[in-house]
Formats: sequence, structure tokens, C-alpha cells
Amino acid sequence: MAIMGRMILCAATATLLITAPLGAAWAETVLITGSNQGIGLEFAKQYAARGWKVIATHRRASVPQSLAELQQQYPQNVQVETMDVSDHAQIEALAAKLEGEPIDILLNNAGLIRYEPLDKPDNNMDQRFGTLDYKGLDQFIHVNVAGPLKVCESFVENVKASQLKKMVTISSAAGMVSMLPRGGDHYWYRISKAALNSAMRLMTVSLKDDGITVVMFHPGGVQVESFGDLKLPGFVPPEVAIGKMITTIDGLTFEDSGRFLQNDGRDHPW
Ligand SMILES: NC(=O)c1ccc[n+]([C@@H]2O[C@H](COP(=O)([O-])OP(=O)(O)OC[C@H]3O[C@@H](n4cnc5c(N)ncnc54)[C@H](OP(=O)(O)O)[C@@H]3O)[C@@H](O)[C@H]2O)c1
Repeated sequence: MAIMGRMILCAATATLLITAPLGAAWAETVLITGSNQGIGLEFAKQYAARGWKVIATHRRASVPQSLAELQQQYPQNVQVETMDVSDHAQIEALAAKLEGEPIDILLNNAGLIRYEPLDKPDNNMDQRFGTLDYKGLDQFIHVNVAGPLKVCESFVENVKASQLKKMVTISSAAGMVSMLPRGGDHYWYRISKAALNSAMRLMTVSLKDDGITVVMFHPGGVQVESFGDLKLPGFVPPEVAIGKMITTIDGLTFEDSGRFLQNDGRDHPW
């Protein structure tokens, strides 16, 4: 791999990646929450491979192995930062550190889905009617609704200062209210995603005059590592679903602001 100023020619794949040193003004930048595994990690990998500056955030006490490896693979354009989206002091600290740095895409991906592994026999009973643990609701709202909102509030100036001005939030079909859900499960998760969609619709209006495009995605069924050995029918590997979302995000314009999207850009029912 020969380095020629800001351009890297990758002989093996014969692709030309345009990269810039961290902090360079012209590189497109994406900040991703919950980027150490699953969908967030795949977004980080794909944007890094394109030569974007990736601010890959996680909530762990030390840098997760997955992000250490990504940073090693792309030392020039991956920056790993700690940010638990339920910890407002941590969000504000990172916003202060990144003050003045344009962020083209603010990608709210981090989410709390369940406390227990998906394949546990009494799967998430505390999220089922009759056995609901109400402390859980506070936690789900804190992470899945207040978290993304606080992230957007804290980094809005960075997004305003960017070229692309996009705020993308990974929601879920679980937040749909226009159709009855298939199962009466995951109460807190479903309720929190419906509230998240409401929050993002409000934000769409608040940020209209700033020219910021706000969208929500149902990423589709994505077979992530945290499912363990459980294989779900119709679920696709992260690289497929995230590849489609990135193509859709590329094509978004301000006219799309406020939409709830499927990964291929079609509207998702509310
Ligand atoms: N996979 C699917 O089929 C699917 C379908 C619909 C929607 N989604 C949505 O897609 C997003 C990503 O989910 P996933 O499937 O990739 O699940 P995942 O593999 O469990 O990843 C969730 C990520 O969120 C992080 N996270 C959780 N709480 C956090 C907090 N307080 N602060 C910062 N990060 C936090 C996790 O960090 P740790 O590793 O430290 O736990 C992890 O990196 C979620 O919003 C989810 O609701 C996924």
C-alpha cells in the first residue's frame, strides 16, 4: 500500500481511498454511538473503509478489542472515544472535546434491547404483561430516548458546521404503532422505540431552519453477535443491512427529513 500525500492506493483491491489526517477540515466525519459491536461496529468498519473520519464511541471501561483492532487497521481515520449515552456528563465531555469539529453524520445507534440473552428460556419475562418490572421502563427510556436526544442536543453545532448535516437514528419496527405487534413481548423496548420516533419527529421540526436532515431507520432483521447461536429466519448479516443503509444515507436530502425508513430507503410504517 503506497501512501501518496492524502491518497492511499490499495494495490490488492485496486481501489483508491481518499483519506485525511485526523482533524483535517475536508474529510467527511461520522460519529457513531454504541460502535463496539453489532450494527454500530459494522457502520464504523464500512465508513472507515471509505476513508471517512470515524469517531467510534463505546460505553466500556476500556477500549473494546473490536475498536482497538479497527483503530489499528485505520490509524489515520478512526478515533475511539468513550460515551455512555445514559451518562450526560460523558456526552458533554466529548462534545466539549470535539467543539468546532464538523460532524457530517451523527449516528445514534446505541440501544438497550433486553437484559437477558435472546435465547434464555424465560426470555425477558420482566418485559411481558403480568410480570413487568417498572424500573426497567426508566432505564429503557433513559438509554433509548433521552440518550439519543441528549447526543443530538450536545453535538448539534458540530452537525450544523458540516457539509452534509444529517442526524440518523437507528430505531426499530418494534416502535411501530400503526399495526398491532406480532407478540406481546419486549414492552419496554417497543415503548421506548415508539417514544424515540416521536422525539426524532419533534427534532425534525426544531432543526428545520438549520437545514439538518433527521431520519430514523428500521435496520431490518440483522444477525448480530449478541444473538449468540440463535439464528433468526430472514435476518441478514450486518454487512448487507448496513451496506444498504449507507447507500440510502448517501442519497438523503433535506426533503427526506422526518422520514422513518427501511434500510433500502423505502418508507417504514409508523
Ligand atoms: N439487530 C437487529 O435486528 C435490530 C433490529 C431493529 C433495531 N435494531 C437497533 O439497532 C441498534 C443496534 O443494535 P444491535 O442489534 O447492533 O445490538 P447490539 O449488538 O446489542 O449492540 C448494541 C450496542 O449499543 C451499545 N449500548 C447499549 N447501551 C448503551 C449506552 N448506555 N451507551 C452507549 N452504548 C450503549 C452496546 O454496548 P455494549 O457492547 O457495551 O453493551 C452495543 O455496542 C439498536 O438501537 C437496536 O435497537 C437492531
